[in-house]
Amino acid sequence: MPCVSPRRMMKMKVPKTCSSILRRILMVDQVLSEFWLETEELKEVMRRMQLEMDRGLGVVTHDQASVKMLPTYVCLTTDGSDVGDFIALDLGGTNFRVMLVKVGEDEKRGWKVETRHQVYSVPEKAMTGTAQMLFDYIAECISDFLSKHHLKHKKLPLGFTFSFPVRHEDIDKGFLVNWTKGFKASGAEGNNVVSLLRDAIQRRGDFEMDVVAMVNDTVATMISCYYDDRSCEVGVIVGTGCNACYMEEMQRVELVEGEEGRMCVNTEWGAFGANGELEEFRLEYDRRVDRTSLNPGQQLYEKLISGKYMGELVRVVLLKLVSLGLLFHGRASRQLKTRGSFQTCFVSQIESDTGDREQICSTLSRLGLSASQLDCDIVRLACESVSTRAARLCGAGLASIINRMRERRRQDVLKITVGADGSVYKLHPCFQEKFHKAVRELAPCCDITFVQSEEGSGRGAALISAGVCKTAACVLNK
Ligand code: GLC
Repeated sequence: MPCVSPRRMMKMKVPKTCSSILRRILMVDQVLSEFWLETEELKEVMRRMQLEMDRGLGVVTHDQASVKMLPTYVCLTTDGSDVGDFIALDLGGTNFRVMLVKVGEDEKRGWKVETRHQVYSVPEKAMTGTAQMLFDYIAECISDFLSKHHLKHKKLPLGFTFSFPVRHEDIDKGFLVNWTKGFKASGAEGNNVVSLLRDAIQRRGDFEMDVVAMVNDTVATMISCYYDDRSCEVGVIVGTGCNACYMEEMQRVELVEGEEGRMCVNTEWGAFGANGELEEFRLEYDRRVDRTSLNPGQQLYEKLISGKYMGELVRVVLLKLVSLGLLFHGRASRQLKTRGSFQTCFVSQIESDTGDREQICSTLSRLGLSASQLDCDIVRLACESVSTRAARLCGAGLASIINRMRERRRQDVLKITVGADGSVYKLHPCFQEKFHKAVRELAPCCDITFVQSEEGSGRGAALISAGVCKTAACVLNK
């Protein structure tokens, strides 16, 4: 099936004389072309994001800014690290991971990190109940992990990767701004997350931990890559949520005292759009997905990109095509009509189809849909439209960061490494390529290397705890 150039189709009238199949294809293209964003439109998104980033960094404008630019109290140094065993926790999606990270030196006195981990799924009632229920569950998982590894008697240092917006006062003290990604546990917002964890551990009383650092997953990813590549000064996640962090000049981080050096800033760009900056780019499907989400009006940029919403967006688009009589003979199955039934991994599966449509048919049959060849092609086009827009929009965000770093550093060519992670980034068959291409197009004069982080969240948290990266407080007080 031809992939008619997006946008251009929008204004084309479908001629009455077209054969019915051609007419159907053209109408589908008309619907999907709305997802295509021209480079000029992406540049406009970047311009607006830059503005919000500046406002987020400024003391006076911070409160109103949609992009909060939260200081993390993480600075990069090449100083040595402690060696030994660390516990790393990773909370940010439907899974919670506990890890044992052994930091040591190898023969060449380089760093060697070994990890063992266990994944626990977070029950719905812990995600949306009370903070105490959630943190009691976390403490229960740690206890189980320590028992299994015969570590209960040791008081180990712990690094916590907590992938939500946190207003830090230090590396081990930070207040949850608001939940994102379907978490709702009451009594956590506005509270010190490290205290919530310490209190839950104390309530159990069957083990002790020394909580030394709490970091965002973007920061942990950046740090874990920095450890292999000292040019890594940006971290990006495209998974359940979408976010990025980067090393900003201290002078610009107005919320923290001190002028020297750089501090890692967690942009929390997922909230971009809260001041109406994305209104002309959001489509009826985006508005519907937002309306039916747990946090309407929030995380609007994230809702255009991340895995939490991508499948649902495709589902809503497919329902539109069905309602126009362009798909499945105008009839949707019960499953397709059910919110959340179209998982984001289906988007990856469908776009991975090799051309015989087998993969597409089998994915659709799981949703109670029997699809003709043309139906399969149309579904694939819908997936591609949604994921391509996501990749390009995400590229615009990252290019905004990289361009500002180049300007700040007054370099003709900025050589930079980006540590990247997240299920969409890693598992979608074409997201990465389109994302990288968009970033390179929108951030010219930059020599960008992307590094996929392995176990970044845990390794990063442990490395920060081990002191590979000293906290700003230490650096600034020197
Ligand atoms: C959401 C969170 C953010 C996190 C991102 C990726 O956007 O608010 O803190 O980094 O998801 O997990």
